[in-house]
Amino acid sequence: MAYVVLVSGAGSNLEALIEADVGKISSVVADGECPALAKAEAVGISTRVIPYRGGRASFTSEILDVAGDAEALVLAGFMRILGKEAIARFPNRIVNIHPSLLPSFPGLDAVAQALAAGVKVTGATVHFVDELLDHGPIIAQKAVPVLPGDNACSLHKRIKIEEHVLYPRVVEALLAGRLSVEGRTVSWS
Ligand code: GRF
Repeated sequence: MAYVVLVSGAGSNLEALIEADVGKISSVVADGECPALAKAEAVGISTRVIPYRGGRASFTSEILDVAGDAEALVLAGFMRILGKEAIARFPNRIVNIHPSLLPSFPGLDAVAQALAAGVKVTGATVHFVDELLDHGPIIAQKAVPVLPGDNACSLHKRIKIEEHVLYPRVVEALLAGRLSVEGRTVSWS
């Protein structure tokens, strides 16, 4: 079962997927140069940089070309919104990880948003991707406490520790066909 990982940043979630040895990563696609690419190259996974230009539809179509006959798209710190062509091509086969307990704090700077709101608990969410930002059906969540003295960096670091456990589990279940979706409810079997 091959899947494509889409990245824009540090690539720690990509690394967790590689280390967990979940399925086969057929390629890693980034929207620009980023440290995640080197992590893929270090283990011989082919990489592609597809700059975001010419609009969402053409960007999405270039990604779909690279995806070829892959079975899923796994967004791991990918900072772009995919076009509807991707969702049509991979129905309930595109997943994203977000550093908050959605539907709280979607979008950019989710960790800073949580701190600014003064919540005592935040966390990580893995969800299916639909056409809206950080919005599709929720597959799994893990709560992380906000500790006295936390800043965005310390809190994000603890959230990522949980992400690295959560994401490989979800991707494994997705590839094994163990996730089903009814409305907004995802069931695991
Ligand atoms: C993660 O916190 C993820 O939830 C968010 O972006 C961050 C990516 O980190 N979407 P990394 O590039 O996987 O280290």
